Amino acid sequence: MREHKAKLSLLSILSDGQFHSGERLGEQLGISRAAIGKHIQGIQAWGMDIYRVQGKGYRLNKPIELLDQARLESKTSVPISLIPIIDSTNQYLLDKGEECQSGEVCIAEYQAKGRGRRGREWVSPFGSNLYMSMYWQLEAGMAAAMGLSLVIGVSVVEALEQLGVEDVKLKWPNDLYYQDRKLAGILIEMSGQAGGAANLVIGMGMNLSMSGEQGGITQPWVSLDEVLGDHRIGRNQLASAIINAWQDSLEQYEYQGMNGFVERWNRLDNFISREIKLLMGSRVVSGIAQGINEQGAVLIETDKGIESYIGGEISLRSCDTKEQ
Ligand code: ATP
Ligand code: BTN
Repeated sequence: MREHKAKLSLLSILSDGQFHSGERLGEQLGISRAAIGKHIQGIQAWGMDIYRVQGKGYRLNKPIELLDQARLESKTSVPISLIPIIDSTNQYLLDKGEECQSGEVCIAEYQAKGRGRRGREWVSPFGSNLYMSMYWQLEAGMAAAMGLSLVIGVSVVEALEQLGVEDVKLKWPNDLYYQDRKLAGILIEMSGQAGGAANLVIGMGMNLSMSGEQGGITQPWVSLDEVLGDHRIGRNQLASAIINAWQDSLEQYEYQGMNGFVERWNRLDNFISREIKLLMGSRVVSGIAQGINEQGAVLIETDKGIESYIGGEISLRSCDTKEQ
């Protein structure tokens, strides 16, 4: 972290979106202008758009609200580690393992090795998105983890609705979609088992103000800024609302499992009644999506009737798009 201290101090000055001269920045940080130039390059490598205008200095292309541990903690009731620069928030909690307490959160501004399902890359530039994970010891054990991932997705969309965000939908098993583009992805990993309980790490990346070409993303995506239009939600407010929603839904899930949950999912299912295909290795099943059942399996109406599929190796795709 110490090696990033100067860059993070620079970013906190630049976060207002105004011009700051290299000379003044150097004075504020107690380093040379040349050193400022080098740090600016490092910040650009984290995916931040910084401009330099002769005679005016440096400026971010737009102001950003940095994450603030004290603000997050004042709005939630779980331990939070804000680690601005990290490999992966999921990996951090997986490594910490049983030292974590249920509900503990790790949140970051930038991930050098953010990952999605099956080891795919999760593009994680600095400051423009949310990257967060929560550790949870699930008493119901590993068998219940599949249902849990659906419950977590629903809890995030419902939390967004409470903040006035409309029309965000879900793609089975755990993506958030807006107008057929990916807004967020959820990744649940297991750090081990203690007795019958499963130690889980629940991670989510949500695009907030990411823009431009993003190498590494091979499918249509969207940022929350576009969903919101003129409406604005602060990153700290959003993160704390989601942390609270996760905690509530995890506690509820421990008591009642998927009871009464199918309707909540089906209301938000992006593909319900639409033509989809399920990819399972080399096998493809095509049909009409019919939501989920009580076990959290995806239902698809094929020539043979309604079939259910469950498991981590299944990918759902719309038949309207050509992506695989
Ligand atoms: P699946 O249904 O198999 O989960 P998926 O395409 O959603 O399919 P995931 O592994 O869930 O795949 O997500 C990782 C994929 O998400 C990557 O392959 C990449 O194309 C895409 N991706 C990576 N970063 C982002 C991001 N910030 N926003 C949107 N999509 C991203
Ligand atoms: C997916 O759609 O495949 C899931 C993406 C999950 C990304 C989040 S970002 C926070 C947490 N840390 C990671 O390395 N991955 C998850």
